[in-house]
Amino acid sequence: MAKKTVRDVEVRGKRVLVRVDFNVPLHEGKVSDDTRLRAALPTIEYLCQQGARVILVSHLGRPKGAPDPSLRLDPVAQRLQELLGKPVRKLDQCVGPEVEAAVDALQPGEILLLENIRFLPGETKNDPELAQSLARLCDLYVNDAFGTAHRAHASTVGVARLRPAVAGLLMARELEVLGRLLSAPDRPFAAIIGGAKISDKIGVLRNLLGLVDSLLIGGGMANTFLVAEGYDLGRSLCELDRLEEARSLLAQARERRVNLVLPDDLVVAPDKIAGVEHRVVPVNAVPKDWMALDVGPATVKAFRQVLSSARTIFWNGPLGYFEQPPFDEGTVEVARSLPAGAVTVIGGGDTVAAVTRAGVADRITHLSTGGGASLEFLEGKELPGVAVLEDK
Ligand code: 3PG
Repeated sequence: MAKKTVRDVEVRGKRVLVRVDFNVPLHEGKVSDDTRLRAALPTIEYLCQQGARVILVSHLGRPKGAPDPSLRLDPVAQRLQELLGKPVRKLDQCVGPEVEAAVDALQPGEILLLENIRFLPGETKNDPELAQSLARLCDLYVNDAFGTAHRAHASTVGVARLRPAVAGLLMARELEVLGRLLSAPDRPFAAIIGGAKISDKIGVLRNLLGLVDSLLIGGGMANTFLVAEGYDLGRSLCELDRLEEARSLLAQARERRVNLVLPDDLVVAPDKIAGVEHRVVPVNAVPKDWMALDVGPATVKAFRQVLSSARTIFWNGPLGYFEQPPFDEGTVEVARSLPAGAVTVIGGGDTVAAVTRAGVADRITHLSTGGGASLEFLEGKELPGVAVLEDK
């Protein structure tokens, strides 16, 4: 069922606590990728225009319930202020009397940003007292943090139970686009799943096999499938304890007549370091002491052929050791082959970065801000941060 959004409730003059996902990469004290900040702007701007008093709360990294100076939200406030073109007052606490005083002084249209909520041990434990303290700050709760909606924490679930709780505009868009993949995708529907490990994605692979027409697999996880099929991949990353699982997924694909495409060729090297010697080999000719670090050109061509006729494409996970060029080439080439006319949905930070690096981000239908969250959603699981919001 669709969730109520900020547009469905009165916000004027209200203290609105907005859970955002500002878990962004930092480099030398600055935000190095502001995609998630930009994605949250429509909700923040809407609330300010409507005269709400906006209190933003987010986590950054995994500080384990104690303050970590390198994970303070000051650089986030700085960048957000630039993007909004208006002041964002950053507080050094998340809850308590000082925060309550700052909220009391907040005028309609003004914005406060609380400190990293994971500095408090109660956040990840969904502690009722922390939820109460957050609830004291607001009249209305908005969740716009799709990327964190798979976590049942105090700022995503606890507080939402104590106040009227609705979705932000980003959250609503994520649910609409990803929901469509589950309920009524235009066909043919192809999914590309990459990344290092099959163990992280078993659930989503199983569910996708019931939804898609083609499943294209690359990245480290493809090695596990190839080894399960009997290939010797030398020193390549492979989860030997998952071979049975891989065989069962391959059998499921055959039963369901899903066109499951594994790499035909691989880019191999003796090590994954800059400037290392590398070459392209068929999957049955990986040298003993070498490792697969990318899909090869024949695989890119095979993927491209499937994608060219797809009407819906979901992609999560890079197809090679993307962090180290030239092993990003397969991923970037496949990104370039995404057809402009299809519904294309990309999830996960690395995959979004690949699409941006390939210069095709502007022709993607939807760049999801959720990595883990989009996978759990497509696994068919109900996300706790979504379940708790009011239905329309
Ligand atoms: C993410 O980046 O996937 C979200 O912000 C959630 O972060 P977490 O995995 O640390 O909960």
